[in-house]
Amino acid sequence: MKKSKITGIGFHVPKQLVTNQDLTSIMDTSDEWIRTRSGIEQRRWVQGDEAASDLAIPASIKAMEMAGVNPEDIDVVVVGTISGDYFFPGVSAQLQAELGLRNIAAFDIKAACSAFVYSLSIADQFIQTGQYTTALVVGAEAQTKFINKSTEGRDIAVLFGDGAGAAVLQVSNDESGILSTHLHCQGKDLKNLWMEAPGSSGDNQINTVTIEQAKRFEPYMNGREVFKNAVVRFPEVIHEALEKNNLSMDDISLIIPHQANLRIIQSVAKRMGVEQDKFYANIQRYGNTTAASIPIALCEAVEEEKVKEGDTIILAAFGAGYTWASAAIRW
Ligand code: UT7
Repeated sequence: MKKSKITGIGFHVPKQLVTNQDLTSIMDTSDEWIRTRSGIEQRRWVQGDEAASDLAIPASIKAMEMAGVNPEDIDVVVVGTISGDYFFPGVSAQLQAELGLRNIAAFDIKAACSAFVYSLSIADQFIQTGQYTTALVVGAEAQTKFINKSTEGRDIAVLFGDGAGAAVLQVSNDESGILSTHLHCQGKDLKNLWMEAPGSSGDNQINTVTIEQAKRFEPYMNGREVFKNAVVRFPEVIHEALEKNNLSMDDISLIIPHQANLRIIQSVAKRMGVEQDKFYANIQRYGNTTAASIPIALCEAVEEEKVKEGDTIILAAFGAGYTWASAAIRW
């Protein structure tokens, strides 16, 4: 079996910066509530006709440039997103066309906040088996287009942001690379974090939707339940990655968790008895960008030299589904 490694990364966020203070002028909230409950100070929101592909394309170009690969080198594109430009087809099809890629495999993965790690795992399998040698993996969200930006939707609106992050995966010829990936789902709780419509369930057909039913077209989150599950699943899936590779926490230089809430990250570190610094956090600046959060955080951690050649890191995700996942990587 071959091994894959990340050879290029890149991210892109929308220009529009929305501070907590900005939010107080459109809904009944406060900087204090948002900071103390989530740690978030600002986020980026798409504006006008800006969509997920507009963020995914520049992020992908940066990752391809860093990897030194040309469009014709890419063998497969996997995009994690729940807020693609269209209901179908996926953002991956747009990337294939806009980046001038060959008529290769391209598909989207709807695993919400875990989608980047899921996508990375899928691409890794293709490279391990030898089917492909170069993969483009993206997490991209323009999800704030779906949120209710009034006081009624404030519990969700203040937490989420938009952005995209991308990685190029290639065959590794040395010690570095993806050591293992671990993917999970527990669908029985899916209604604690979901968006019901548009969908094929019940009477969600557009011609039968009344104003009262329009709420189905907004995300719903049972924040407390999601929080309780996240603080259990993050440690579990991090331990799973450690055990699989016979590693201890001392071998890990950085854990890059999905950025859902600074309190979740702090609580996970505490439960695991690990110093806070070992968990990377940039949620303060971007909010929760769902599938884009881990690749954006990875890019910033590398830029800040918190991830260096030879380091062993763990990516860990938890989100709607519920899904959760991890990846152990030697950088
Ligand atoms: O990406 C993965 C998915 N998401 C997550 O992992 C998020 C997990 N959950 C959380 O992060 C937290 O549960 C939240 C940040 C969503 C909420 O924090 P909390 O400490 O659990 O707050 P709460 O639900 O207990 O907040 C309750 C109060 C309510 O008022 P009353 O009923 O106590 O008077 C809400 O109406 O806070 C009120 N509230 C707000 N107030 C000001 C809710 N949203 C806001 C807001 N501004 N934006």
